[in-house]
Amino acid sequence: MRKRDLQLEKFVISGGTPLRGEVTISGAKNAALAIIPACILSQDICILENLPTSLSDVNYMIQTLDYIGAKVRLIDKTTVEIDSRHVNSYVISHNMTKHLRASYYFIGALLGRFGRAKVAMPGGCYLGPRPIDQHIKGFETLGAKIELEDNAIVDATSDGLIGSPIYLDMASVGATVNIMLAAVKAEGQTIIENAAKEPHIVDLANFLNSMGADIRGAGTDVIKIRGVENMHGCTYAVIPDQIEAGTYMVAAAATKGDVLIKNVIPKHLESISSKLIECGAEIEEFDEEIRVSMNRRPGKCNIKTAPHPGFPTDMQPQIAVLLSLAEGTSIISEGIWSNRFRYTEQLSRMGADINVDGQLAMIHGVEKLKGAPVKADDLRAGAAMIIAALAAEGTTEIEDILHIDRGYEYVVEKITGLGGKITRAYAPEPFAVENAG
Ligand code: EPU
Repeated sequence: MRKRDLQLEKFVISGGTPLRGEVTISGAKNAALAIIPACILSQDICILENLPTSLSDVNYMIQTLDYIGAKVRLIDKTTVEIDSRHVNSYVISHNMTKHLRASYYFIGALLGRFGRAKVAMPGGCYLGPRPIDQHIKGFETLGAKIELEDNAIVDATSDGLIGSPIYLDMASVGATVNIMLAAVKAEGQTIIENAAKEPHIVDLANFLNSMGADIRGAGTDVIKIRGVENMHGCTYAVIPDQIEAGTYMVAAAATKGDVLIKNVIPKHLESISSKLIECGAEIEEFDEEIRVSMNRRPGKCNIKTAPHPGFPTDMQPQIAVLLSLAEGTSIISEGIWSNRFRYTEQLSRMGADINVDGQLAMIHGVEKLKGAPVKADDLRAGAAMIIAALAAEGTTEIEDILHIDRGYEYVVEKITGLGGKITRAYAPEPFAVENAG
């Protein structure tokens, strides 16, 4: 069998067909990435449902569990059993962590389990500098001693973590997750002030509480964690992916289509819905579905990305495609990452008219985008290229799609199901989840 060469794969997309029909959203990647390492906090068995098991990021986290001695079994396409009874190592090498940012959640989880963690610094999308000072501050406040070996390995030791108040300088998603993971079994109460409020923070807290943790306030600025001695296994369904849903919403609008998006929590999509409505889309909300249709050229609108419940930075490149096709000039202000406009260069190759100045992008809408060879600079940039290609005239080839496979499951199948014309230059072989145990 030919070996899959991720570097060589590309998407070929013929644009100009409105997306129509139904699509089902997968479990949330960023919730899954926090919940998978959290499983090791119990010496027991957890069953995770609605898990996006074919995402490469999820696979790397599962392989890391295997590496430290957990047993992982794929029950079906979206359900995994994680047996953490025999986790026997607190050391994780660069080979395991280099693939993705979230591998650093093993620092918090291992500290929680063993009071000890030695984990290589993480990889991940380049969106500007990604310091982890708030994570380190959190661990130190809980009483851990942190050393950074050769600037490459975080070595955390403790004689037992002690709950404490921790104020975050910014509402960091990663630091909030990592501190929660470390604090659930600490002695006494931890209070995280200026905590992140994203849906996946709430999902992690709900999961940890299902394992016996005592966490209150997740989803607000202040999270209170009363340490417990023991945690146990549980069965838990991961929430639907807010950003995957938002991506299909924008794709529906940008192609002037009509799509029913299933398995969503409409409340999580409000900031995206309200901007789409401002641009002229029609949105119908149901209990677990949302329908997006657009029958005219989009109108302009201004967007500022901000922590939840603000407009998500992870939807910024996708909505920029819609605004590239809008009547009039729109301004996007990026409030989280210092380098999240790299994709605009690729979009310009397709005919978009965008000027970037630091954290601001001024988008002068054009009537049409045209197919061109482009690349996915990172995960959400890649999603934007797909939307642009679907809306454009002609054929677009997107390279570096390994970034897209990190966060969008079955993207070819889902888009094809909506009538979009997309193929992968090489057929993927399934990732080896079933061998991970
Ligand atoms: N920051 C610091 N110090 C820290 C931590 C963060 O200065 O110790 C800064 C960052 O540099 C950034 C801001 O604070 O400017 C916010 O960073 P945050 O920690 O919230 O981001 P993250 O945890 O690294 C997660 C998501 C990202 C998403 C951001 C913002 C995961 C695995 N990743 O990253 O998702 O963009 O929150 O919502 O949850 C994606 O899925 O495509 C993605 C990049």
